[in-house]
Amino acid sequence: MRHKVSIIGAGMTGATSAHWLAERELADLVLVDIVEGMPQGKSLDLQEALPVIGKDVSVVGSNDYEATEGSDIIVITAGLPRKPGMSRDDLLAKNAEIVRTAVEETLKHSPEAIYIILTNPLDAMAYLTMKVGDLPRERVIGQAGILDSARMRAFVAMELGVSVENVHCYVLGGHGDSMVPLTRHSNVAGVPLDVILPADRLEAIVERTRKGGGEIVGLLKSGSAFYAPAVAIAQMVEAILKDKNLIVPASVYLQGEYGLKDLFFGVPAQLGRQGLVKVIEYELNESERKALEASAEHVKTNIAKLAL
Ligand code: APR
Repeated sequence: MRHKVSIIGAGMTGATSAHWLAERELADLVLVDIVEGMPQGKSLDLQEALPVIGKDVSVVGSNDYEATEGSDIIVITAGLPRKPGMSRDDLLAKNAEIVRTAVEETLKHSPEAIYIILTNPLDAMAYLTMKVGDLPRERVIGQAGILDSARMRAFVAMELGVSVENVHCYVLGGHGDSMVPLTRHSNVAGVPLDVILPADRLEAIVERTRKGGGEIVGLLKSGSAFYAPAVAIAQMVEAILKDKNLIVPASVYLQGEYGLKDLFFGVPAQLGRQGLVKVIEYELNESERKALEASAEHVKTNIAKLAL
């Protein structure tokens, strides 16, 4: 049976997600955007690329939500990206309206879909999606942790001159500057990071990871990161469609796990065909727990601003 994934927002992250997904030949793809002609043009271009790499999926662009009919997964990337000097939180009010419409419209055509949210501020937008759609928590997952952890993995691999495949990092918490890179649980081929790296180098990597999105916004001047967020989306889609039970850091709705409830928050989450299968709970020490609690306060403030 063919799968169908619709991506709402055909901008940098949306179109790049389609690119990574098409390469994996996971599903037929639909790109929806408000800009006339743009999703159609990008989809046609991508469709025309596929003979070269021998992948058989259909890629359709539209300005109309009807095209999303019967989707297994809806990815929401529609919204404004950051400009230099802006935090992800500055996007809240504008993006909330855009995400609300995207959820309401897509649900009419795909009542069983699983939602993957990328639009920032991520944890608040995922919360909004669940509430607006009246969805069970299994069906709404925010993408943040794979990206933040991948950034940290890249920095560690560059520092030590080892393969990225040997570097395992776990960044939890809200998707903002208060995110929590867990250095004790992160490791290089099994050796914990706080053993393999001098304290000052490790601290520098943690800081760079926390500000990783801002570093790219500052360099690009207009727009924000898209390759890494988009490939993270592709990994989540693959985990769900192939029912892999893959454990990745992701933003999910907590109901008491880690002592937190009624918020979306980055934790290790097992993803399978139903969406969220299980939240994995790490044993945390006092300072890790405190850092997560501080990050949770930040996310809760944003969620309160939604006034749902
Ligand atoms: N419906 C559909 N698409 C919309 C709507 C809407 N109501 N409003 C805006 N869009 C589209 C824009 O036309 C644009 O093509 O969303 C797209 C967003 O693309 P970009 O501006 O390139 O932004 P991008 O880098 O993809 O980031 C999108 O993801 O990572 C987050 O912080 C980022 O919130 C931002 C979002």
